[in-house]
Amino acid sequence: MRIIKEIQQLKKILAKQRSQKKSIGFVPTMGALHEGHIQLIRRARRENDFVVVSIFVNPLQFGPREDFQRYPRNILRDCFICCNEDVDILFYPAYQKMYPAHFRTYVYVEGLSEKLCGRFRPGHFRGVTTVVTKLFNIVNPDIAYFGQKDAQQAIIIKKMVEDLNMPVKIKVLPTVRESDGLALSSRNNYLSAGERKDAVVLAQALSLAKRLIKKGKTDSRSLIHKMRQLIKKKKNAKIDYVAIVDTHNLEPLKKIKRKTLLALAVWIGKTRLIDNIIIN
Ligand code: PAF
Repeated sequence: MRIIKEIQQLKKILAKQRSQKKSIGFVPTMGALHEGHIQLIRRARRENDFVVVSIFVNPLQFGPREDFQRYPRNILRDCFICCNEDVDILFYPAYQKMYPAHFRTYVYVEGLSEKLCGRFRPGHFRGVTTVVTKLFNIVNPDIAYFGQKDAQQAIIIKKMVEDLNMPVKIKVLPTVRESDGLALSSRNNYLSAGERKDAVVLAQALSLAKRLIKKGKTDSRSLIHKMRQLIKKKKNAKIDYVAIVDTHNLEPLKKIKRKTLLALAVWIGKTRLIDNIIIN
């Protein structure tokens, strides 16, 4: 595995691979890799000749009072994981290389970026779509891999790729969970032992809704109410939102339909966690 920090150097290596008709799989990350990322990397490895993983904690997607400074960083461990998974290139650019002084261009997916998490994290998805566009332009992958845990992010990126005719296929892989159901996230590192116990309530609320839907309950208001009641029982929990929405436009749905996204964001102490399921 090679660790590349320079954009031009990476482009040169990848142009050579492309000229040899090698397919390129890409896994963009912010590091602090966990089993969820490993599943994405393994899938990319299986499906492509050449695999690039990027690690870049993107300042643009963090609000001024968010956790950019304390976001977990462990590049040595991440290198070890990527090496073990037979990644060809770990792209690890410096901030000034990605955002030189006088950077002025942003990518924004209107109508989707303001909803759900966007309401509570203004500017977040503009940061995500801008950096992902830059990374796609640098890597020019055949396939890029994302996790279902960040459902809204995946929906927005798919829309951006469609709208801007980006020549990349987006694959979204299932959320990886701890044995008790907690969705893996780099932010789980922040949780104290007590908070970790309470954090499972996100997955429990989604499971409760799933069970009720299976029993024939389809009224969103009542499902959301039941999920909120369950979450509120945890003393460390504070709800940002619990939502039942259409998987394409993220508009609230009055009733569960064929393909519905159940999504929630909950603070557990000082840590904001998200989770979701899609009802098929
Ligand atoms: O999901 C993430 O880790 C980030 O939002 C991404 C896609 C790497 C962009 O910074």
